[in-house]
Amino acid sequence: MKITVSLIKADIGSVAGHVRVHPKTIEAAKRKLEEAKKEGLIIDYYVFNAGDDLQLLMTHSKGIDNSDIHGLAWETFKEATKIAKELKLYAAGQDLLKDAFSGNIKGMGPGVAEMEFEERKAEPIAVFAADKTEPGAFNFPVFKIFADPFNTAGLIIDPRMHKGFKFIIMDVVEGKEIELSAPEEMYDILALIGHTGRYVIKYVYSKDPEIGIAATVSTQKLALICGEYRGKDDPVCIIRAQHGLPAMGEILEAFCHAHLVKGWMRGSHHGPLMPVPLKYSQCTRFDGPPRVVGLGFNICEGRLIGPIDLFDDPAFDHVRQKAMFISDYIRSMGPFEPHMMTPEELEYTTLPKILEELKDKWRKSK
Ligand code: F6R
Ligand code: MG
Ligand code: MG
Repeated sequence: MKITVSLIKADIGSVAGHVRVHPKTIEAAKRKLEEAKKEGLIIDYYVFNAGDDLQLLMTHSKGIDNSDIHGLAWETFKEATKIAKELKLYAAGQDLLKDAFSGNIKGMGPGVAEMEFEERKAEPIAVFAADKTEPGAFNFPVFKIFADPFNTAGLIIDPRMHKGFKFIIMDVVEGKEIELSAPEEMYDILALIGHTGRYVIKYVYSKDPEIGIAATVSTQKLALICGEYRGKDDPVCIIRAQHGLPAMGEILEAFCHAHLVKGWMRGSHHGPLMPVPLKYSQCTRFDGPPRVVGLGFNICEGRLIGPIDLFDDPAFDHVRQKAMFISDYIRSMGPFEPHMMTPEELEYTTLPKILEELKDKWRKSK
């Protein structure tokens, strides 16, 4: 049975600043998706939040880029926005950049990660959603999961993983993509994906054709859509696990580094990515630090069995502590690079307006 998993997210407004989605907007989204489930458009759904982003996880049999599914997500975000506006939530409707839906939600503001696969005898998946960061934030963990044998023992030991994985990497500035294979082209992959603002891992495929798709990440960059900073392009990611794919523990291992990502405070700072359970899925200190939630499910004829709140575990306490140690250190640099991002990276923020005001004060240096 072919199943599609779609994770579509948008910031449609939040409470107390860009902190957390309001429970009433989550309820509105659930009502809408429940109707769609009853009508048979989707098989199942799970609604949750990553900080100020409303997350719609849906399963169905319509394939990726399906206009009915994207339309449903769009309508759901609009319903939730209505509530956000009634409650005068902060930045209500922020990510809905267009007025009318035109068949595909990509390019309209929301972020999208979708994959279609033949459901295996047992089909464990993990979905990740990050706040106050950008799609390239997943490059580091996804590379480690599928290409670093120091992270993933299965690359050495499991015959179905030993040949490695294929990576589709997108150049988000020029809108083109490249396919590279690990381990053979590992250095080429790394030559690109270390530059997280430009090159983003979009898909990972198993080299075993029976398995096919292994991972996908949303690659939408809001600033490139609307020409200015509108919150960050907080990304989502779906990864299939086990039986010829990385074990769930190998997937989670890659989130133990509190690696530095772009997008903290005003989309303008680097900071550590902190893995948190849903109860801590809210951005507070300096609007952060950037956070990621992870939910584990098994799929049963399209039904979502779960979730397991994957980072709700003392095993991640010390990662959170490490993230806060790094936060203290890097925050002490205030507006200095590399805590603050480079002027080129801040091009889409409000910095150019400040620089404009200084324009006439410059004089030729002697
Ligand atoms: C939003 C974000 C925040 C805001 C900041 C200023 O996702 O990253 O750090 O950029 O709170 O927000 P405004 O300009 O709405 O006051
Ligand atoms: Mg926001
Ligand atoms: Mg957000």
